[in-house]
Amino acid sequence: MHKKLVAANWKMNLLHEDVKQLAPKIHSFQEQIKMNCEVQIYVPSIYIDFILNNSQLSVGAQNVHWENKGAFTGEVSASQLNSIGCKNVLIGHSERREIFKEDNTIIERKLLNAIENDLNILLCFGEPFEIREKKKHLEYISNQIQLALRKIKKEKIHKLTLAYEPIWAIGSGLTATKDQIEEMHNHIRYELVKQFSSFGDEVRILYGGSCNDTNAREIFACSNVDGGLIGGASLNFDKFSKIIEIANDLS
Ligand code: PGA
Repeated sequence: MHKKLVAANWKMNLLHEDVKQLAPKIHSFQEQIKMNCEVQIYVPSIYIDFILNNSQLSVGAQNVHWENKGAFTGEVSASQLNSIGCKNVLIGHSERREIFKEDNTIIERKLLNAIENDLNILLCFGEPFEIREKKKHLEYISNQIQLALRKIKKEKIHKLTLAYEPIWAIGSGLTATKDQIEEMHNHIRYELVKQFSSFGDEVRILYGGSCNDTNAREIFACSNVDGGLIGGASLNFDKFSKIIEIANDLS
């Protein structure tokens, strides 16, 4: 069993004043309890430097470009993240895929460049509701994983954590059932081991999609669930700290 990982995805939320309060609170909570699990916080890029300089939280970016530099107005590169000491990045979140039209080719390019720059990657994927209704979800996820990971070398797979986030469960209050989560996470593990042999066993697989302080215990106890990617509930200190406690208990 892997050490659990709780990852917060703040998305485009919180003002600087809020960050100044929330980040140190999470950090001192981690100092107070005996941490068995790991915590990462994915924040809007403008706050990364502030958090790095004012707490020892493990911070990450929510997006990254596939080139290291150049004429890409508004973008941030993996080498730039690395240069300020930010070691973690989220790639392939469904909001990037759906709203910003990032396809599997773009995601693969981002992933390869982030690996080249020695970043740790939290790679997200998940199926829309229509696909699940047609019972094509396992096939759909296999395809997303294969297209993203086909050029990754076995020795580099430890740089990756995967996050399964059924799109219909994100921010909707709907959570996948225990059976749905276990079916998918066992399937993802099977795909990883098929492609990367024993290296595939080392990769953590998180669940995301309306995971909160009331359902995290049941979700984190599912087979092949190594923690959670938490959106809405990570913005509230009480809820997020409870989720950390649960992950700690189960680690
Ligand atoms: P949610 O978001 O917890 O608010 O559903 C999860 C995510 O999008 O990462």
